[in-house]
Amino acid sequence: MAEVYFVGAGPGDPDLITVKGMELVKKADVLVYTGSLVNPELVDRSKAQVKVDSHRKTLEEIVPLMARHAREGSLVVRLHTGDPSLYGAIIEQIDLLEKAGVTCRVIPGVSSLFGAAAALKAQLTQTGVSDTLIITRPAGATLVEDLIPDLSTFNTTFVVFLGSDKIREVIQKTRFPADTPAAVVYHASWPDEIVLRGTVATIATQAEEAGIRKSALLMVGDVFDPERHGLTRSVLYT
Ligand SMILES: C[S@@+](CC[C@H](N)C(=O)[O-])C[C@H]1O[C@@H](n2cnc3c(N)ncnc32)[C@H](O)[C@@H]1O
Repeated sequence: MAEVYFVGAGPGDPDLITVKGMELVKKADVLVYTGSLVNPELVDRSKAQVKVDSHRKTLEEIVPLMARHAREGSLVVRLHTGDPSLYGAIIEQIDLLEKAGVTCRVIPGVSSLFGAAAALKAQLTQTGVSDTLIITRPAGATLVEDLIPDLSTFNTTFVVFLGSDKIREVIQKTRFPADTPAAVVYHASWPDEIVLRGTVATIATQAEEAGIRKSALLMVGDVFDPERHGLTRSVLYT
C-alpha cells in the first residue's frame, strides 16, 4: 500500500520527537522536511537515501515526488516542525496525496507552544486564572485580516504564532491592560533559546532589544505571572 507519514518533529531539540516519529525518521527511505524550521540534527539521524528540503518548494514539486516514491514501496516521511496540526499546511498535501491514491497517516509532535510553556515553566491553564487558551496569528502575507483585537478582549491565555517580526504591531492591536504579564520565547528548546518575561507595556521593546525577528511565540496572560493572583490549589490536591 502506498503511504506517506506526516510526522511532528517537535520544537527544535531533536530528542523532543515522539518515539514513533523517531523510528519513522530513522527508517525512512525518503525524507521531506521543512529546512527552515526542523533541526538539521534530526534530519542527520535519518538514513534516507533521498532527503528533500521543502523550503521554497511548491506543492507541485513535493507532492508528486512523495506519491511516486510511496507507490514504489518506499517509506516516505514528511517531517513538519512542532505539531503538524498547528499552522502546518498539511491538509493540502494530504488532499492531493489521497486523491492520487496515497494513504496518509499523521504522527503528532510537541508543538513549539508546549516547548515555550516548558521554557517558561508555565501552566497555560490555571485554576482561578485562566481556563481558556487562544491560539492565533496576525494578518500577513497569507492572512488578510486577523482577529487579534476581538480575541484579546477575553481574559484568557493568548498565544500568537507567526508574528515574530511584528511583535510591537501585534501588541498594539491587543486590548489587554498594559500591566498584563507577557512573554516572548525565541527558539524554544534550541541551544540558543531566549526567554523574555515582561508585560504588555514592555515586551515589544524587550523583543526588539534582544533582536528577535523570527521563530518566536508571543504569549500574554495572567498565567505567565502565577503569583499575581495568588496560587489556588487544583481540586486534585485539596
Ligand atoms: C509555520 S509555524 C509552525 C508551528 C508548528 N507546527 C508548531 O506546532 O510549533 C512557525 C511558527 O511557529 C513558531 N515556532 C516554531 N518553532 C518555534 C520555537 N522553537 N520556538 C518558538 N516559536 C516557534 C513561530 O511563531 C514560527 O513563526
